[in-house]
Amino acid sequence: MAGIQKIMSKVQVALLFGGVSAEHEVSCLSAASVLNHLDRSRYEVTVIGIDRNGRWYRQLQELLPLPAVKADGSQLVSVIPGVGLAVAGETLLVDVAFLVTHGTQGEDGRLQGLLDCAAVRYTGSGVAGSALGMDKDFAKQIWQQQGFPVVPWLTAHRDRDSSPEACSALFARCSTTLGLPLFVKPANSGSSVGVAKVTNGAEFGPAMDAAFAVDSKVMVEKAVNGREIEVAVLGVSQPEAFGPGEVVPNHEFYDYEAKYLDPHGAALEVPAQLAPEVSSRILELAVNAYRALDCLGFSRVDFFIDRSTGAISLNEINTLPGFTTISMFPRMVLHSGMTYPTLLDRLIDEALRKPR
Ligand SMILES: Nc1ncnc2c1ncn2[C@@H]1O[C@H](COP(=O)(O)OP(=O)(O)O)[C@@H](O)[C@H]1O
Ligand SMILES: [Mg+2]
Repeated sequence: MAGIQKIMSKVQVALLFGGVSAEHEVSCLSAASVLNHLDRSRYEVTVIGIDRNGRWYRQLQELLPLPAVKADGSQLVSVIPGVGLAVAGETLLVDVAFLVTHGTQGEDGRLQGLLDCAAVRYTGSGVAGSALGMDKDFAKQIWQQQGFPVVPWLTAHRDRDSSPEACSALFARCSTTLGLPLFVKPANSGSSVGVAKVTNGAEFGPAMDAAFAVDSKVMVEKAVNGREIEVAVLGVSQPEAFGPGEVVPNHEFYDYEAKYLDPHGAALEVPAQLAPEVSSRILELAVNAYRALDCLGFSRVDFFIDRSTGAISLNEINTLPGFTTISMFPRMVLHSGMTYPTLLDRLIDEALRKPR
């Protein structure tokens, strides 16, 4: 009886990972770290893997050490509006969904909206914060409107701007107003997929094509010769900032290869070596930028510091940043002395306080 009561009093956590985005593998790694560190005396964990087709499966065996989504038809999970999650007609007990789903569908508000409809609470930002955080164009429009420093950019749309003629007209406009080099990137993407540095007209068309292959909206930005500084923000009503840290890429820029394929692709420095007043300015900007987009729970906010002028500008926000123990977000929080399990507890406690 005592044993049953103990089980009943545990928080029922559904850990969701995988997904249809290009960041599927990264999500699997993040999930393994989270699963390894969730305090089993507090939590009963159901692991749900989302395969590359977007189907959800309950995972019956532990995922460690190399997690991958196991697609077992008998464990297909359904999402029932107003009810919750179910497997084989049986409702799953879920107090909170812990999301480690990066990128399209998992981080952009769609999964969050689906869970809202199913009355399942979840960690992190809601629909609006997730969608705005994922769309770099909308995020920057809001930040700019509220007076935050952002890198100048122009926005291109596939239906209007992808013909060769439109593309060369756009290049002329961008090189005149923004100068060279330029950065071309999909508005909705991550992990540097579809991002390219462009130094001349010949490189512009292929870069635009590659970015339009990822998203119908593409941003052309002035290239900043800057240090890449990141901040972890944690919390709902009184968000706190941790860091800053610095990413020092050993590539032309922090591209996909530097992020995931090349073991020496980048050095992550926590804390970043910055003058105290610059650090505190960046930490403050990070919290305000997070608030401006209605983000909740946690996010990683990324900046540039121009190497010649020292000017600080916001680059982007990641509402579901990489979550392995060696990822930048946890490292910045852990540097403060908080442990990884305590970080997980905090995210869960905050999610449990949200209305269903
Ligand atoms: N305007 C820019 N100036 C200089 N470097 C940039 C610029 N935009 C992007 N980059 C480089 O490309 C990387 C990926 O771009 P980012 O906007 O952060 O997209 P993602 O969401 O894919 O991380 C950055 O970390 C940086 O190295
Ligand atoms: Mg980035």
